[in-house]
Amino acid sequence: MRLAGKIAIVTGAAGGIGYQIAKRFTEEGAAVVLADIDSHGEAAAEQLALAGGRALFCQTDVSDSASVQRLAQFAAAQFGAPDILVNNAAINIPGSILELTEDIWDRTYAVNVKSMFLLSRAVIPGMREKGGGAIINMGSANSYVAEPRLAAYVSSKGAILMLTKAMALDCAVDRIRVNCICPGWVDTAFNDRHAELFGGREEVLKSIDDIHPIGRTIMPVEIAHTALFLASDESSAITGAGIPVDGGYTAK
Ligand SMILES: NC(=O)c1ccc[n+]([C@@H]2O[C@H](COP(=O)([O-])OP(=O)(O)OC[C@H]3O[C@@H](n4cnc5c(N)ncnc54)[C@H](O)[C@@H]3O)[C@@H](O)[C@H]2O)c1
Repeated sequence: MRLAGKIAIVTGAAGGIGYQIAKRFTEEGAAVVLADIDSHGEAAAEQLALAGGRALFCQTDVSDSASVQRLAQFAAAQFGAPDILVNNAAINIPGSILELTEDIWDRTYAVNVKSMFLLSRAVIPGMREKGGGAIINMGSANSYVAEPRLAAYVSSKGAILMLTKAMALDCAVDRIRVNCICPGWVDTAFNDRHAELFGGREEVLKSIDDIHPIGRTIMPVEIAHTALFLASDESSAITGAGIPVDGGYTAK
């Protein structure tokens, strides 16, 4: 029970990586609020509760400040002030600098980056009062390297890495650690629209050896293991770090 007695919010937890993180956290004793714009998060939380975990869903648009305030209040009322925040929700709308619309640009930055600003500000005072906490921002291998026809997404992920470092410096005095996980290709539906521009998912996966030296995609639970480490006291001296979980992608 590496997170016994801890309270966590995980955004984008209706499925994919966020759900696996929420699952690992409940398995390790944390009470978890799963936040997502997608109402399937309700069933996801019920599944974790059925397995014996303490899990509740709060439908949230992380880009909306009133919605984020409601999420923070919900978590505090149901479980208490969070010790752990995982800013995981994101969107991935492909397009080159000329293909993207202004609306897509603004929406990408609102969901992927501004959300972290809003939700972190909502929970940091409570963490400070409790004497510390852990914030984990979901970056990407694209926090380090770009890809064609993905300008809004990759630049938002670059911003998240630097926001993580800035937050880590600001929060160190309050014993709040802030880190960033940078996954390679995780086989969720998240990449499908971008892959379609290059012949589809199957076609792109043929070159997985070129993308990941380990020769396979990353499993969501491998990201969840890293999140668990960063959320727990085992990583007590780590803050301001970007941790690649990318099968060697960015080592090249
Ligand atoms: N899949 C990959 O290859 C990969 C690689 C690197 C990084 N990531 C990152 O991992 C994270 C999770 O991605 P995933 O692969 O699990 O994809 P996913 O689509 O399964 O998860 C994203 C979740 O965010 C939610 N979401 C979107 N907009 C929201 C909003 N406004 N408010 C609240 N929730 C919202 C979605 O409903 C979804 O449940 C993202 O930050 C993504 O950038 C994924």
